[in-house]
Amino acid sequence: MRIGIYGGTFNPIHKTHIEIAEAALKQFDLDQVYFLIAGNPPHKDSAETISDMCRLDMLKLALSGQDRLLIDDREIYRSGKSYSYITFSELSLEREDDELFFIMGSDSLINFKNWVKPEIISSKATVLGAPRLGDDTEKINQAIFENKRLFEGDFFLIDYKANSLSSSYIRDNFYTDPSVKELLPDRVYDYILDHNLYSKRFYSPDTIKSLEEEMRKELSSSRFKHTIGVANTAYMLASAWNYPAVAAMVAGLLHDSAKCITDEKRLSICKKNKIEIRDIEYKYPHLLHGKVGAYFAKNKYEIDDEQICHAITVHTTGCPDMSLLDKIIFVADYIEPGRNKQPRLDVLRYEAFHDLDNCVFMILEDTIEYLNQNQDIFDPMTLDTYEYYVSFLEKRNSKNIKR
Ligand SMILES: [Fe+2]
Ligand SMILES: [Fe+2]
Repeated sequence: MRIGIYGGTFNPIHKTHIEIAEAALKQFDLDQVYFLIAGNPPHKDSAETISDMCRLDMLKLALSGQDRLLIDDREIYRSGKSYSYITFSELSLEREDDELFFIMGSDSLINFKNWVKPEIISSKATVLGAPRLGDDTEKINQAIFENKRLFEGDFFLIDYKANSLSSSYIRDNFYTDPSVKELLPDRVYDYILDHNLYSKRFYSPDTIKSLEEEMRKELSSSRFKHTIGVANTAYMLASAWNYPAVAAMVAGLLHDSAKCITDEKRLSICKKNKIEIRDIEYKYPHLLHGKVGAYFAKNKYEIDDEQICHAITVHTTGCPDMSLLDKIIFVADYIEPGRNKQPRLDVLRYEAFHDLDNCVFMILEDTIEYLNQNQDIFDPMTLDTYEYYVSFLEKRNSKNIKR
C-alpha cells in the first residue's frame, strides 16, 4: 500500500489539515493517511500548550468516520525524546511492503536539512510539503532542489491552494474572532469550548497557595479539610477527563467559599449585586452558598473565569446539560476522600473515572433518595437535573456512545 504519514502537533486540528490529507491522497494515489501526532515540547508552562490527550481527543473527533484518514499516536506515548527518524525507522520495519510518504508543513520542508538525521527519514519516505498561506514559492522550490541534492529520496510539494489561517491563529483568536468556528470541524469547536482550551488563563502555584491560605482563614477546620479534598479530587478528575487540571483545582478550592458566612450576609450580597434569589433560597438561604461563592470567586479572589464561576454556582444541585467542569466539581464534592456516609461510595469513586455522566446520574439518584427519606429541603433544580440525565443517558445508551 501507499501510506501517507502526516506529522504535526495538530494544536488544534482544523479543516485545512483534512483538506491537505485529502489532496495528498488524490495527487499521490495514497491508500491511507495517518495523522502522526507529535509530543509537546518539554516546557509546558504556556497557555498555548494544551494536554497531549486533548490534542489526541480532537484528532479522534475530527477523523471519526473517515476510512482513509487514521491516527498514529506513538510519539505522544514514547518515553524520552521523540524524533521523526526513530518513528520512520520503526514504520519502515513494520510496513516492509508499503511505500511511505511523509507529509509535513512547507516550513518544515524548508528546514528539513536541520532536522535530526534527515538522511534516515528521506531514505525511508518520500517527503511531501503541505502549502501554507503566504508561502514563498521560490524559497520552497529552492529547498526541494537543495534537499534532493543533499539526500537520497524524493521531495514534492502538494498541489493545494492554502486559503485559511493556521492553528496558531485559531489559538490566539478562538474567543475573539467568530470566523474561527468556520475553520474547525464542529465537534472540535465544541470540544475546545467545553474543555476551556486556549483561554489564556494560567493559574500559577502561587495562586493556588494563596487561595488555599484564604480558605484556611475563611472556613471552619472541617470545611477547610473538605475543601482540600474537593480541590485534589477535582485535579485528578480533570486530569482523567482532559480538562485543565489546575483550573479545576481553583474551582474546588473556592466552591464552598461562601459556606461559613451568615444567612443574612448571603441574602444581602445577593440583593446588593442583583443575584437572583428563588423562593426556596429565600426560605433556606444557605442554598445560596453556590451563587455567593461564585460571586466571591470573581470579585473577592479575582478569578475571572466563567466556567469556574458556573461550576461553583451549580455545585450542590447540578443543572441540566452541565459543562465538563460543572460535572467535575459536582462529583468531586460528593466523593472526596473525607466523605464516608453516602451509599455506594466505592462504586461512585470508580465510576467517576470511567463514566462521568453516569456518575453524575448516580449521585443525583442517591441525593433524591436521601431527600425523600429525610424530608429535607428539596431544591427543584435537583429534580430538573435528575430528569435531564435520565433522558440524556437513555439517548446515549441507545446509541451506545460513552463519554
Ligand atoms: Fe457546597
Ligand atoms: Fe462542598
